[in-house]
Amino acid sequence: MKRVAVLISGRGSNLGALIAAQDAGYKIILVISNVEGAGGLEKARAAGIATEVISHAGKSREAFDAELDAGLRAAGAELVVLAGFMRILSDGFVRGWEGRLINIHPSLLPAYRGTKVHERVIAAGERESGASVHFVVPELDAGPVIAQTKVPVHSDDTPESLAARILAVEHKLYPDALKLLASGKVRLEEGQTVRL
Ligand code: GRF
Repeated sequence: MKRVAVLISGRGSNLGALIAAQDAGYKIILVISNVEGAGGLEKARAAGIATEVISHAGKSREAFDAELDAGLRAAGAELVVLAGFMRILSDGFVRGWEGRLINIHPSLLPAYRGTKVHERVIAAGERESGASVHFVVPELDAGPVIAQTKVPVHSDDTPESLAARILAVEHKLYPDALKLLASGKVRLEEGQTVRL
């Protein structure tokens, strides 16, 4: 069973889905938020999971990442899952967790990296969008994809309605992808996702 730490900054609906889906393959042993009062912290506490708040305020990126890294290693984390974690991680941190660090992004990567995804998808007239789970690499949202789910984009969609449709599929996709990684059915090899 893999010991998993989840990093959050906000409401933590994906965290909630990851907690609910825990099985013999993975156990969430720690939730770290860089934002005090993030809603996800309550979800973790209610499930009896240890929480830590590590604020980034007034710290260099390297100093913040070093604290994060120390917290993860002290807890014996084996896999690190970003779930609405709104900080860019330094290259050093990312390399230190290479192949063991994953993120979920609300687009069909490699399309629409970055922010304001739904606005841009709608403005471009896309008929389809979705969610992607990927290994984290130093370049933002550029890591090899592990799994994706597509959803339709409707002609009357707003960024909010599209975000809600995608979020709903994230809640199944993310636990499924984490289970693949935890069981060794998927891994990062020479910068590519390899499936066994
Ligand atoms: C999700 O849309 C995810 O794709 C993005 O941040 C959002 C997190 O939402 N990376 P939540 O905090 O899990 O509800």
